[in-house]
Amino acid sequence: MDKVKIGIIGTGSISNVHIQGYKKLPNVEIVAACDINEERVKAAAEKYDIPNVFTDYNEMLNSVELDGVSVCTWNNAHAPASIAALKAGVNVLCEKPMAMNAEEAEEMLKVAEESGKLLMIGFVKRFEEKTAAVKRFIERGELGEVYYGKIGYTRRRGNPGGWFSNKELSGGGPLIDLGVHVIDQVRYVMGKPKAVSAYGATFDKIASRTDIDPTGEYVAADHSKSGEFINNVEDSAIGVIKFDNGATIFIETSWVQHVKEGQTYLELYGSHAGISLEPKLQIAGDKDEFMVNWEPVFTPNDGFGIIFDRETAHFVECIQKGIPCRCPAEDGLEVMKILDAIYKSAETGKEIDIK
Ligand SMILES: NC(=O)c1ccc[n+]([C@@H]2O[C@H](COP(=O)([O-])OP(=O)(O)OC[C@H]3O[C@@H](n4cnc5c(N)ncnc54)[C@H](O)[C@@H]3O)[C@@H](O)[C@H]2O)c1
Repeated sequence: MDKVKIGIIGTGSISNVHIQGYKKLPNVEIVAACDINEERVKAAAEKYDIPNVFTDYNEMLNSVELDGVSVCTWNNAHAPASIAALKAGVNVLCEKPMAMNAEEAEEMLKVAEESGKLLMIGFVKRFEEKTAAVKRFIERGELGEVYYGKIGYTRRRGNPGGWFSNKELSGGGPLIDLGVHVIDQVRYVMGKPKAVSAYGATFDKIASRTDIDPTGEYVAADHSKSGEFINNVEDSAIGVIKFDNGATIFIETSWVQHVKEGQTYLELYGSHAGISLEPKLQIAGDKDEFMVNWEPVFTPNDGFGIIFDRETAHFVECIQKGIPCRCPAEDGLEVMKILDAIYKSAETGKEIDIK
């Protein structure tokens, strides 16, 4: 293969870090871009020197020879765009969440298997050095049997507005948007146990207030700070997930909640030691008759752009060398099943079994 030919589907905010990642790779050329917003795709093409521009991904897939695409659209287009690309014989890097729900994710996985092409999910936390460090500690048995954990991704004011808060286009609020990151991260570091059940609750206590601005720094490309926007998803969500390795994990997520400060965290407790990832990697355990705390001397290089550079580089390497993918679609489906179960539990008030 000469240069790997990449297309971008959806040229809003996150596409920038995908494009910048590809641009750093000498063996890659971005040959086409597509967005339903013509002005936006033309601006991206001009900014990044992309020769072919489309407003329909089917047309792009029919007209340009591609080895891979990044799907960076609203969540409701992840499944149809990925499926169209796979059926056209093109490898796919699909942003998180994999889909709107597990049913769509299952269909995507089936098409990927039939096509023989790669469907990689944008689980960008798997490319963090700190996530890799926790995974290594667990693999080496430093924590013993991991039986309990707490994960969270919270914001005090951080509803991204636009399509994100419109359930028809997003599938849900902070749980599917932010929770997806930490649910995948905890499964990944624990060695991908299978979730067997989940209980959850979602809340919507602040969105209806008109005296505050629920949005924060990160907003959808279409969001207008001055205009009204559809907000029919949860403000915050909590859940308890049980895995087949016996571990029970508590999760909390929010876009809008009266937390003092939003945070992303992962804490795991094992029979030998506990580990917390934020604000820095720390381990609490015991040695002889003493309780000991220790902290590796370690400054992870995990800037926002850097982890996307690693993700896009990995996608290209998978295409070129056929190496095993670090973020396979099977894992995307498992996360979607957990998200579906938490949402269903929030509706029914019951713990939901996961198959
Ligand atoms: N990995 C991360 O940390 C991270 C961060 C932000 C967003 N995301 C994900 O990336 C995706 C995009 O988010 P964003 O913040 O860039 O949103 P955005 O609103 O800024 O951009 C999305 C773009 O997709 C376009 N689009 C929608 N449907 C389309 C279709 N059918 N065909 C072509 N283009 C279409 C929109 O016009 C828009 O330009 C979402 O799935 C989101 O969850 C991931």
